[in-house]
Amino acid sequence: MLTVKDLGYWYDQQENSLFENVNLSFSSGASYAIVGQSGSGKTTFLSLIAGLDKPKAGTISWENQAINKIGLTNYRQKHVAIVFQSYNLLTYMSPLNNLLTAMAITKSEHRGDKEFAKKMLRQLGITDEQMTKNVQKLSGGQQQRVAIARTMCCDAQIVVADEPTGNLDEQNTEDVIRLFQEIAHQQGKCVIIVTHESEVAASCDHAYRLAHHVFTAEK
Ligand SMILES: Nc1ncnc2c1ncn2[C@@H]1O[C@H](COP(=O)(O)OP(=O)(O)O)[C@@H](O)[C@H]1O
Ligand SMILES: [Mg+2]
Repeated sequence: MLTVKDLGYWYDQQENSLFENVNLSFSSGASYAIVGQSGSGKTTFLSLIAGLDKPKAGTISWENQAINKIGLTNYRQKHVAIVFQSYNLLTYMSPLNNLLTAMAITKSEHRGDKEFAKKMLRQLGITDEQMTKNVQKLSGGQQQRVAIARTMCCDAQIVVADEPTGNLDEQNTEDVIRLFQEIAHQQGKCVIIVTHESEVAASCDHAYRLAHHVFTAEK
């Protein structure tokens, strides 16, 4: 379980805090949507729970251990996988090598297992021919599926995604929504998705709206 206790964050000064006294918990095996207007602080919140930035107030814990005790670098490497709107793949590599590289860097239990990586890509609809081409030859929807396959190859239990369907058409959005639910329900991971798309939020088990500096459960 990922827990957020009395969390507060501001960029310049405390009077302009984005949120304060946030208390939330996120379970493994469930999916969560974070919704809210542009500029409300969703990406900032995600960067805190992903260990990319430090809170100004409060504590974030994973399995009852404060992430700053785990060490943010260690926490990010072992426990968190991130999917971005812009895919963030290694553009000079093939889909297969993107997965193998991520598995090596994160010391995944499957590291070096090419067949496992191929299986993940096939499951996500990437053909054997596509997986060895340069990743930039693939469409946006295919690239996002590669980014999702990458999270599935790594052992990280927390999967966070920032507007993962922001660049996708309707069909690819539906596919990506389904994949995130599978990651939560079949792989038993804790999935947290920032989105402004109501159908993405509706597909998640829980939804929180960030507005006026507080998070309110909508679902
Ligand atoms: N590095 C930064 N320095 C100062 N202000 C920032 C920085 N990043 C974001 N902000 C401001 O914080 C607010 C929240 O940003 P963000 O978390 O990106 O919101 P959202 O993802 O909900 O659109 C915005 O007003 C934004 O301009
Ligand atoms: Mg954002």
